[in-house]
Amino acid sequence: MKQIERNDPCWCGSGKKYKKCHEAFDHKLNHLQGQGHLVPDHSLIKTPEQIEKIKESARINVAILDYVAEHIQAGVTTGEIDRWVYKITTEAGAVPAPLNYEGFPKSVCTSINHQVCHGIPSDEIVLQEGDIVNVDVSTILDGYYSDSSRMFCIGKVSPEKERLVKITKECVEKGLEQVKAWGYLGDMSQAVHEHAEKNGYRVVREIGGHGIGLEFHEDPWVGYIGKAGTGMVLAPGMIFTIEPMINMGTSDIFVDDADGWTIYTEDGLPSAQWEIMVLVTEQGPEVLAW
Ligand code: MF3
Ligand code: CO
Repeated sequence: MKQIERNDPCWCGSGKKYKKCHEAFDHKLNHLQGQGHLVPDHSLIKTPEQIEKIKESARINVAILDYVAEHIQAGVTTGEIDRWVYKITTEAGAVPAPLNYEGFPKSVCTSINHQVCHGIPSDEIVLQEGDIVNVDVSTILDGYYSDSSRMFCIGKVSPEKERLVKITKECVEKGLEQVKAWGYLGDMSQAVHEHAEKNGYRVVREIGGHGIGLEFHEDPWVGYIGKAGTGMVLAPGMIFTIEPMINMGTSDIFVDDADGWTIYTEDGLPSAQWEIMVLVTEQGPEVLAW
C-alpha cells in the first residue's frame, strides 16, 4: 500500500491536506499502538458529514423516546409502544433498526422488571403499576444509525426498583464523565462497574454497547468490566453507546428459548438499563442520543 504523503488529501475525506488534517492524529495513534494499546481503525473515525447525518438520525431517536415518555402508563401494552415507534419512525422518513434485524420481529425492544434486554413487544403484555420497563429505540435514517434507551417507572414502583433505575442512570453518567479523547474505553467501564458495585448491584458481563453510525453494531464492543487505562484508545470522531445492564441480584442471565431473544436475570430479580450514544471530540464527549 502506498504511504500517504503529507500533501496528499487526508484519508478522512475532508479535502484538506493530510499534514493539516489527520497527520498528527495518526502519529498519536501509531505511538499508542507501539506502546501496546488497542487503537481504532480509520473506518471507525466518522467524517464531519457522516456525523451530521448520524445526528439527524439521533434526533429522530430522541423524539421517539420523548413521545414514549409522554404516553407510557399502566394499561398500555408493549404492542402499542411498538406501533408508536413504527409510526413516528416511518413518518420521519426513517426505518426502525430492530425490525427484521437478525430476525427480530418488532420495531423496538421493551424489557420489563427481570427482563434484562431484547424483550419483544406484544399486545398480550400490559404494563402494570409498579413495573419498571426499558424501551430501547434504534433508528436508520438514509443508512445512518442511532440507538438509545430509557427506563420508565409505571405509576408508583417499590423504593428498591426506583433506586435500581436511579443508580443505573448514574452509572451511565459516571461512565460518560470518563470519556475523553486519547483516553481508554476501560476508563469508562471501570467508572460504571465501580458505581454499580458500590451500591450493591452487579453488571451484566456478556452483553454490552458498541460502536455505531454507519452500521448498527460496529467495533469496539463496549463492556463494563474493563479497567481504567485498558481497552481501545478513544480517538476524536469515534461514536459508541454506553448501555450497561445493572442487576439487583446476580449478574447471571439466560436467553428465553421460546422466543430466542428475551434475556432474563437468572435469579428473577429486576434489571435496569439506560443507553446513550456518544461522540468523542477533542473538546470532550458529545451525547448524540439519550
Ligand atoms: N438496541 C439494542 C442494542 O443496544 C439492539 C437490539 S437488537 C434487536 O444494541 F434486534 F433486538 F432489536
Ligand atoms: Co445499543
